Parts: sequence; C-alpha cells; structure tokens
Amino acid sequence: MNYNIAVLAGDGIGPEVTSQAKKVLDKVAAKYQHQFNYTEALMGACAIDETGNPLPPETVDVCLNSDAVLFGAIGDPKYDNDPSAKVRPEQGLLALRKALELFANIRPVECYPSLIDKAPLKAEIIEGTDFVIYRELTGGIYFGEKQLSEDQSFASDLCGYHQYEIERIAHLAFKAAQLRRNKVTLVDKANVLESSRLWRRVVKEVASNYPEVTLDFLFVDNAAMQMVLNPSQFDVVLTENMFGDILSDEGSVIGGSIGLLASASVGNKGALFEPIHGSYPQAKGLDIANPVASILSAAMLLEHLNLKKEASSIRNAVMQSLEAKVVTKDLDVDSTYGTEDVGSHIASLI
Ligand code: IPM
Ligand code: MG
Repeated sequence: MNYNIAVLAGDGIGPEVTSQAKKVLDKVAAKYQHQFNYTEALMGACAIDETGNPLPPETVDVCLNSDAVLFGAIGDPKYDNDPSAKVRPEQGLLALRKALELFANIRPVECYPSLIDKAPLKAEIIEGTDFVIYRELTGGIYFGEKQLSEDQSFASDLCGYHQYEIERIAHLAFKAAQLRRNKVTLVDKANVLESSRLWRRVVKEVASNYPEVTLDFLFVDNAAMQMVLNPSQFDVVLTENMFGDILSDEGSVIGGSIGLLASASVGNKGALFEPIHGSYPQAKGLDIANPVASILSAAMLLEHLNLKKEASSIRNAVMQSLEAKVVTKDLDVDSTYGTEDVGSHIASLI
C-alpha cells in the first residue's frame, strides 16, 4: 500500500532522531511491500527562522493531506529565557494540535526487562510496569484565556473544560482499558478544582457504558507519588492536559530513559507521532541522542495505519537491540554506539 507521511523534524535533535525512524520505516516498506511518501514541512524554531511563523499554513496543509504525521522535537534555548518573545516555537505544536483536533495524547510507559538495572528507580519497584497515559491535549489551562495586566504585575491562565471534551477522551481511555487490564485511573484535583469535579462527574457517566472496566480516582499529588512508589498498579491513566504533561515526564523514568518513550496524538483530523523527549539542544549534531523513542513512535504510526505486523517488527527489533546492548550513552555510559549506529542496527534487524 501507499501512504503519505508528513515529516516535521523540527528543532534540536529532532532531525537526527527522525531520520533514524525513517531509515527503519524504509526497511519496513521494503520488507512488507509498502510505499511511504514523505513530505517534509517546517514547524517550531526552524520555521520561525525561515518564515517568522512557528506553524506556516503550508505545514498545516501538508499534515491535513497526510495519512499520519511523524514529528521530531520542538524548542530552542534562545526563546526559553526570553519572557518577552512574541513568537515561540512551542506555539507551533500547540496550534497544530488545535488545527488537527488532536485531543488525545497517548503515552505508553513500560519497564523493559533488559534495562531494569539501568533505570534510576529500583528494579523491585518498576518490575512489571505497563501502563498508558491518556492525556487530554486541546483543552485546559494550555488553551484557556490568558491575561497580563497592563502594569505587568498580574498574570493568569484559565483552566476550563467542556463536557464533550472530557467525554471523547474518556471513551478512548475506556476502550483502551478493555483491550488491556480493564482499569482506568482518573487523575485530577477534585478536592480543589471545579474543572476536576466536572471531569469526575463526566468520567463516571462514561464509565457506566463499560461495566467490565474498574474506574478509580487519584488526586494528582498522590498520583505523582504512586507513580514512583508502585507504578505497576496502573493500567490506563486518564487525565487533563497539564497534569498529563507533568506525569508523563515523570513516568518516563520508569522505562530507564526519556529517550525510549514514544507517543501518539490522535483526534478528528489526523494523527501525529512523536518521541516525548524534547529538542535536547545541547546534544544537537553530536550523534549521541537516543533514536529509540522516535523509532517506537514510527511503530505507533504503523499501528494507527492498521499495519500491525509491521509495527511489531519494529518493536521486536528495538527489543533485540536493547538486549544486545546496542544502545546510546543515556542507557550505557560505556557504549560507543551513536544515534546513527543504533538506528542502522535496528533497521538491520527488521
Ligand atoms: C509535550 C511538551 C509540550 C507540551 C510543549 C513542547 C508545548 O512538553 O508534548 O509534552 O507541554 O505539551
Ligand atoms: Mg511535556
């Protein structure tokens, strides 16, 4: 089959890791007789540098006309410490999420047996961990009204949610749980926030359509603690935008490295796949970035296209490379393998 894939390599290490993912996808295409037509487009700091706009309209068109989007990373230090910057790279990603209505961000967190002793958490804590975060992506404090008073001494960001925004991601989370271990944990702050109380009410109503799935609740502060005390209790974690942003970075340490965590953002007008790590500008061009998260994002992309055995072939190749210790330095300080080597090795195992 023929598929159109929009490639937004983005900033920092984005281009390096994305090109390894493409290398692996090309191997999959050759083996399973598919054709992936890539169209590159600009988003982020690179787009600001070239066009002044972090999300040029052509990029939105390319994405809308593709079967899936493969995204690298966004962000550049020259904007981070400049509160007065009018345009920022991150606005590109946020605007694209809105344009494609990517309301659900799906982030699997797994403990890889071959890395269990490398992970920063104790093996007995993380052993057997296998959960997935369903983070709402187009609402909440990220997109609420923003204010800065005229004298610049007061600022606010509003956190609001509509019932329909909660319902649509809740249904996806419950459907995912049905294919897993039938458990959904809603993470909120319902002891303090009105928006969280709405989440609780709506999610309980949605739950009544899925009687075989158990629903439980955790306040976000407790959830943050439980995630590193007893992560194997989780199956599907459902939460709003900002809590999900924070918890998914926390969850990434369970896998041993943030360089392993892939994610999918799905919605009404497209699907986007990206490593959860950022642009890691200090590593740009040094051939040290871990390409695995990008490669596993490509596997999620194939799954989305219903190419199940192709996706498994990537996952198996990644497992084998981890077991053979063909990994970048973030996973093994003594390793001599770089980004390119790891990508080529994984491609050769397809
Ligand atoms: C993420 C990132 C983004 C977010 C930034 C880059 C806007 O941290 O995808 O988790 O906060 O959503
Ligand atoms: Mg984040």
